Amino acid sequence: MKNQVKIWSPATIANLNVGFDALGCALEAPGEEMIVRRTEDNGVVRIARIHGASLDLRADRNVASIAAKSLLESLGNPCGLELEIHKSIQPGSGIGSSAASAAAAVVGVNELLNAGLRPVELIPYALDGEAFASGARHADNVAPALLGGIILSTPEGQVQSIPIPTDWHVTVLHPQIEIRTSDARGVLPAQVDLNVAAQQAAWFASFVSACYEGDGSRAALGLEDVMVGPHRAKLIPFFDEIREIARGGGARAGGISGSGPSTFWISLNTEDAQSIRDAIELFMRSKSMDFKLYSTRIATQGAHLMP
Ligand code: HSE
Repeated sequence: MKNQVKIWSPATIANLNVGFDALGCALEAPGEEMIVRRTEDNGVVRIARIHGASLDLRADRNVASIAAKSLLESLGNPCGLELEIHKSIQPGSGIGSSAASAAAAVVGVNELLNAGLRPVELIPYALDGEAFASGARHADNVAPALLGGIILSTPEGQVQSIPIPTDWHVTVLHPQIEIRTSDARGVLPAQVDLNVAAQQAAWFASFVSACYEGDGSRAALGLEDVMVGPHRAKLIPFFDEIREIARGGGARAGGISGSGPSTFWISLNTEDAQSIRDAIELFMRSKSMDFKLYSTRIATQGAHLMP
């Protein structure tokens, strides 16, 4: 019987421009770690410490402990749990910080208790945690954090894995400001023009069909955000300038990651990925704004046990 497990969990990009609240992908970096320990207080979940972010240590106010408790309860509370959370994905970054924590927690409980649930079966428990953070049960970050790859979450709660364009490189820029998802949703219109909705549906379909054809270039071309991004761009520091710079460096597509402030830029080879990174870095330094940059790929694996 294991007394503790260590879990790795990925950052994620929700929406991917075309699939608002429906699409997301897991990233190889950044990712973060969580240790889940068994205790003797059956049914009690405690947070021992959180490294790297100042988050609430109360178990009923934290995404990870809420998700862990939800799964523990469904398994009959055979023990208690203690969580040690190592945050590398900053809250409010737009790259799935709360989803990474929720996913790590439920994978940890599943492994520790040898419960044998498949990643897809862990989604509802992770969503219990995610819903606390975001106020909504969207699986667009949680599903890829658990399953890896590019995941489509349908409105009735089904998930579908979409083939990953194997030539995609992803550059993620995280300016060090925080945007709350609720604020980024607040700038969106309640109604969408029919023409805009029709165009967005066509781009979404074009992206998905290109992924199934294994055509990474056409998949990138399909990533047109005509419905959500235009309303949110004003929240992202220097969004228009960064898009121009990324395009100049060879980006084929890009946009706002989740609800921002992070942005992501897709290129089709390592040379372009490096040029995009260098150009964005130079620009951000000239603006004296703190930022983090990641050169990464889409992760094929979701949250999992570390050796
Ligand atoms: N899809 C959400 C949004 C973010 O763009 O507001 C992650 O759930």
